[in-house]
Amino acid sequence: MNLKDLYIDFFVSKGHKLIPSAPVVPENDPSVLFNTAGMQPLIPYLMGQPHPYGTRLVDYQKCIRTNDLDSIGDKTHHTFFEMLGNWSLGDYFKEESISYSFEFLTKVLNIPVNKLAVTVFKGDEEIPKDIESATIWQNLGINKIAYLGKDDNFWIAGESGPCGPDTEIFYFRSDDEVPDTFDPNDDRWVEIWNNVFMQYYKDNNGITDLPKKNVDTGMGLERVTAILEGVNDNYLSSVWIDVIKKIEEISNLKYAGNEKSMRIIADHIRTSVFILGDDAMIKPSNTDQGYILRRLIRRAIRHARNLNITNENWEIILANMIIDKYKKYYSELEKNKNIILEELTKEKNKFNKTLEKGLKEFEKIINNTDEILNKDLAFKLYDTYGFPIELTVELAKERNILVDVDGFKEKFKAHQELSRTSSSGKFKGGLAGDSEKEIKYHTATHLLNAALKIVVDKNVHQKGSNITAERMRFDFSCDHKLTDEEKLKIEELVNKWISEKIDVTVKEMSKEEAIKSGAECMFIDKYPDMVTVYSIGDISKELCGGPHVKNTSELGVFKIIKEEASSAGIRRIKAILE
Ligand code: ALA
Repeated sequence: MNLKDLYIDFFVSKGHKLIPSAPVVPENDPSVLFNTAGMQPLIPYLMGQPHPYGTRLVDYQKCIRTNDLDSIGDKTHHTFFEMLGNWSLGDYFKEESISYSFEFLTKVLNIPVNKLAVTVFKGDEEIPKDIESATIWQNLGINKIAYLGKDDNFWIAGESGPCGPDTEIFYFRSDDEVPDTFDPNDDRWVEIWNNVFMQYYKDNNGITDLPKKNVDTGMGLERVTAILEGVNDNYLSSVWIDVIKKIEEISNLKYAGNEKSMRIIADHIRTSVFILGDDAMIKPSNTDQGYILRRLIRRAIRHARNLNITNENWEIILANMIIDKYKKYYSELEKNKNIILEELTKEKNKFNKTLEKGLKEFEKIINNTDEILNKDLAFKLYDTYGFPIELTVELAKERNILVDVDGFKEKFKAHQELSRTSSSGKFKGGLAGDSEKEIKYHTATHLLNAALKIVVDKNVHQKGSNITAERMRFDFSCDHKLTDEEKLKIEELVNKWISEKIDVTVKEMSKEEAIKSGAECMFIDKYPDMVTVYSIGDISKELCGGPHVKNTSELGVFKIIKEEASSAGIRRIKAILE
């Protein structure tokens, strides 16, 4: 049996309910593009909301981390990975959690006790030393214990949210004799599991107690499988080996000597299959999750070219294999199979049309470049040949040449602006992924944000937004369900502004200047030094990348179709323009 099944069966036998993996896009955390940990979809329940499946949960969660895409190609990094986790929502705490982990590792996986070591939180001025966890470990026979500080033994997803001290479990991956004492800096000890005791909530005001004491654990499936199978290259473990063999077959090359390209192809196609197959329905585009997807597919294509893969259906062969491998656990892959295959091929054909010429152009450019590839050429590669800027950077890096990425971004913005006001009203070359309808929703979002401040409370703030061609979704801080009267007033106000035919204007300025001028902004750290600020008369002023309509009269009739809770203290409005 594989690790996933063993894990699930074990925790089910301990009274846990198996919950389905949530979609890859988080529903209640607009600050990240994808779920990066098993606990992310469970935040509202860790905050105190009752979970429909009860207080003991187990799952395998689809996670995507894009912060070190550049590292993909080495032995251990993956963009997509599965996180195994078990949770107690105010049910058991440290004693059972640690005992369950110990039992699973030593009785189910049969790991000898002397090959295990743990770290626990050493305490600081805010939170006490976790003597309780250490004592529980000792009573179970684990004596290799290290006390570490907040950087190592305190866990939180991002800057704020549920959090707590954790205990990390390490496995001795080496044929050497196990040392008597545990040195967490000795890299023969590798972390395999993290048990977080989530009893606190952290935000700008500091740390407070959560209503209940929870447990959140996480085990990276790919990593731990490789460790347990004794391979030091994850791609040689049972999770990956068949995919790598297939790439060897398709390319007629050996893995040895071609590791980097083969790993990138395997990783990026698997991630693309999971993004396309997810019910979040993301397609390749030039914004947000869609842009990550586009980058992944295009980079995989470039590396397939490196391997001289001539099989015309290579992406389909690999995607089919991945779908078959995972459909037992993720039925959405089978359900969305046609979309996955179609979109992969569509994107491949689109990129292949210009790839050859683009690479020739790149060669020409690079031969005439000494140190830095300038912004105009980087933009040409993007605009004419569809090279994501990151791909140009990667290609240039292979020749020890840098790219003026900041300059590129400025140019990109200016071009976006130009396209926005072009007479056709359409975007050239698919520069922005937005349809005309989506642009209208962008502007309506600003009006809704302004109306909420007037009707509900001036301290209402945007917490998230998601726009499709069919509707807008807007999350905001608010401590109560909106009354019918409030909803009606909001609609009336937005529609009044629409009927007043107000111009939407845009200005570039420094971030400081923008903040000083009172412009509203959701994630200040995410913006570059120079920003664009969109104003709608004197009704709204927001830091925003756009695009927007030119005048509110273009919007139509604004209508709220749903108002509901999103998570603790956050409400969600879904609205349409008719
Ligand atoms: N949420 C914890 C982690 O991701 C378990 O490590």
